[in-house]
Amino acid sequence: MPAYPNATVSPRTEAAPAAPAAVPAPTTGPASAAPAADGPLPVLGRDVTVPLVTGGHVTYAALDYAASAPALQRVWDDVAAYAPYYGSVHRGAGYLSQLSTDLFESSRATVAAFLGCRPDDQVVFTRSTTDSLNLLAHVLPEGCEVFVFETEHHASLLPWRGARVTYLDAPRTPGQAVRTLERALADREPYGPALVCVTGASNVTGELWPVRELAAAAHAHGARVVLDAAQLAPHHPVDVGDLDVDWVAFSGHKLYAPFGTGVLAGRADWLREAEPYLAGGGASRRVARRADGGVDVDWHTTAARHEAGSPNVIGAYAIASACTALTEAGFDALVARERELITRVREGLADVPEVRVLSLFGDDAPRVGVLSFVVEGWNSSHFAAALSAEYGIGVRDGLFCAHPLVRTLLGGAPQEPGACGAPEAGPGERSLNAIRVSFGAGTPDEHVERFVRAVRELVRDGARWNYRTEDGRCVPDRG
Ligand SMILES: Cc1ncc(COP(=O)(O)O)c(C=O)c1O
Repeated sequence: MPAYPNATVSPRTEAAPAAPAAVPAPTTGPASAAPAADGPLPVLGRDVTVPLVTGGHVTYAALDYAASAPALQRVWDDVAAYAPYYGSVHRGAGYLSQLSTDLFESSRATVAAFLGCRPDDQVVFTRSTTDSLNLLAHVLPEGCEVFVFETEHHASLLPWRGARVTYLDAPRTPGQAVRTLERALADREPYGPALVCVTGASNVTGELWPVRELAAAAHAHGARVVLDAAQLAPHHPVDVGDLDVDWVAFSGHKLYAPFGTGVLAGRADWLREAEPYLAGGGASRRVARRADGGVDVDWHTTAARHEAGSPNVIGAYAIASACTALTEAGFDALVARERELITRVREGLADVPEVRVLSLFGDDAPRVGVLSFVVEGWNSSHFAAALSAEYGIGVRDGLFCAHPLVRTLLGGAPQEPGACGAPEAGPGERSLNAIRVSFGAGTPDEHVERFVRAVRELVRDGARWNYRTEDGRCVPDRG
């Protein structure tokens, strides 16, 4: 039971209360008011203007949500309201330390509710999805086999190298994904521990993966499942029980809460039985010298076991605030609005024959607001630089930390060298890269409209500026 169950953080504009009674009042007021169901949620940076190389300024169109989404205004306001009460977590007798500890633990409970966690699940605060999956890799039981599709982000593809890993070929339909996994699991040695790592939504194509079906296939063969929800959680409800996955991992900075925290939530047993991820204070319950001169350690069996060191209470609270904000906005409304934006982008790009949208599962596959493409006659780096410099649109170009997938999707189509920016390729390798546009709950219609218009104009008229390669990136030539 928290020590201050009903307390509230006072808004930063008011004088701090004499006897601080805090935790955690969602802020209200103009900046963080609930949005109209069909409008964007207020995010920071929505009024920021950037210079155009062709002259003048324009409001920045942040269309790189898949890398890092802007902070929700609500998250920022909640963090600011708490900031004066900041204190150490799990290690102070003072009022603000108690209060901060309560806030940290109640944030954990908020995240558990957001993910629909089972009563015995643990929610571990980490630094990011990458950190969460490395933590899970660290706690794998002896002899655990891991199954992962080659299509995964490197954060899901690479942490398992200490285990016996089976890399599965990219499927071309959701059904093929399930069959591929079933075949691989049928071949494995029975009875040993096994883990399947699946993405909820691809960070390259935005396509939704058949998580529930993959989890059922895994469980039928005695394997467990971890869901990489880095791209799913900001766009869709993620319910651990409903999807029947064993763990879920996501990052705060993609969920409108850029304060350096991520989450690994799920089954407690492997977490409880493994050595701590980091050894140190907070993870240990009792440490004592032994008669032989050594040291005995009694480690926590709760989430604290893998959270050694001083916890990032602001990061945890920011994630909890984002979870609350998205829940209150309503995922039905968020998903419906995002679907409209996706349709606009898709239809706009379909009118430009030089644009090829990358897809594993086909044009009609359901997806989140993430879409990658290449443009005939352009190097992707050049195209992305022109979108930024001439239209104030921020997208990403490259291989998106999913090199095997992008190589598979681009197949035999090498990138045009273009005017500049062709990425360096290894000996015998083609130069490959693509452009990714991504958006979410804070994206106004104007941003996607500007993007579609910019693509049309650039393809039709070409860039209005000269560009050159600098440190491997295509940049406007100001010379
Ligand atoms: C699907 C997916 N998984 C994992 C990650 C890694 O997230 P982070 O960089 O926050 O650790 C990303 C980041 O882009 C991602 O898109």
